[in-house]
Amino acid sequence: MPLVITSLGLNRELIKAVQGYGGLVFHDVTTLAFAAKAAEAGVDGLIAVSAGAGGHAGPLNPLAAIADIRGIFDGTLLLGGAMSDGRQVAAAILAGADMAYLGTRFMATRESLAPPALRNMLVDAGAADIVYTPAISGVPGNFLRPSIVAAGRDPEDLSRPASYDFGTAEAKAWRDIWAAGHGVGAIGDIPSAAELCRRLAEEYEAALARAPALSLRPRVCS
Ligand SMILES: Cc1cc2nc3c(=O)[nH]c(=O)nc-3n(C[C@H](O)[C@H](O)[C@H](O)COP(=O)(O)O)c2cc1C
Repeated sequence: MPLVITSLGLNRELIKAVQGYGGLVFHDVTTLAFAAKAAEAGVDGLIAVSAGAGGHAGPLNPLAAIADIRGIFDGTLLLGGAMSDGRQVAAAILAGADMAYLGTRFMATRESLAPPALRNMLVDAGAADIVYTPAISGVPGNFLRPSIVAAGRDPEDLSRPASYDFGTAEAKAWRDIWAAGHGVGAIGDIPSAAELCRRLAEEYEAALARAPALSLRPRVCS
């Protein structure tokens, strides 16, 4: 395995073993403290899972996360969180990330194993439909509000258990209550993964082609 991604806990033995055979370890981090710990442990890359990411998202604004982590880490830096098109990927790179890390957008593809109802929910939902809470899995994460409601839970009061009064079976995190990030707002269809990648590349190139026109240099120098 040339690249191993770890999350929710730093495993020094694993880092040593993977690097020992020439592999790379990238580690998910949600705070600067976790990033510092992973950098000190010698990971090759850090994945800043920022506010608005699907699943176990962090609390940090993505621009702040990149700046903070860049200050303490020279390795490969990836940004995760709420990117659904190539313009956003270009923004992440311009802000200082080496790569972008997309999850939610790829759930709404033809090849995705997500149930059709989830894929349709991703198309219909906006960022306001995302609930950030530790109540579903025990760790703060972003989940689709309509799936919480469908599971018989009250998104405004998740301290209450599932509503058995209405005959709802106990809903399982991830299986019935679906994780997704703020990037749902920019998801409008369910293309094939190849078509999505083509689109991401085109949007990325178009965004970069526009960048020179935004230069302030002539105005600043004159
Ligand atoms: C349904 C779902 C399940 C996820 N499961 C995991 C997981 O098991 N381990 C993990 O490290 N990250 C997991 N993530 C987070 C992704 O690896 C990634 O950080 C995130 O999707 C990036 O943000 P985005 O969804 O806004 O693109 C999950 C994300 C989603 C949407």
